[in-house]
Amino acid sequence: MAEARAALKNAHAPYSNFLVGAALRTASGRVYRGANVENASLGLSICAERAAIFSAISAGDRDFDAIAVATRASEPTPPCGACRQVMLEFAPDMTIHLAGKSDDIETHTLAELVPRPFRSFNS
Ligand code: THU
Repeated sequence: MAEARAALKNAHAPYSNFLVGAALRTASGRVYRGANVENASLGLSICAERAAIFSAISAGDRDFDAIAVATRASEPTPPCGACRQVMLEFAPDMTIHLAGKSDDIETHTLAELVPRPFRSFNS
């Protein structure tokens, strides 16, 4: 969570003013940070979680263990549906730690947040 809070400081969120930081830990012990990056063409924005995940994948590190997500909101913010689906692609068993402005950390499994996932288009 400390890494996620550090990543949050790099968020580019001038449109929503909602800063998010993520830190993805892999089985190798490495940590990949991500922050949300918004764009004037709003649909081009990317969430912190996917920024961290794509960074790890780009580095060739695919064995995800856990992700921490930090905001400054009054309550922890669960990942959006798009980010959950991207997590499922690589790590259906991963753990998700969430924190808002307080030190309290809420922990979930991805399976708990996505009880009946779409996994494949093969019939
Ligand atoms: N956001 C994230 O970074 N992660 C989430 O799980 C939900 C939303 C970002 C996207 C956008 O930049 C801002 O928060 C407001 O939706």
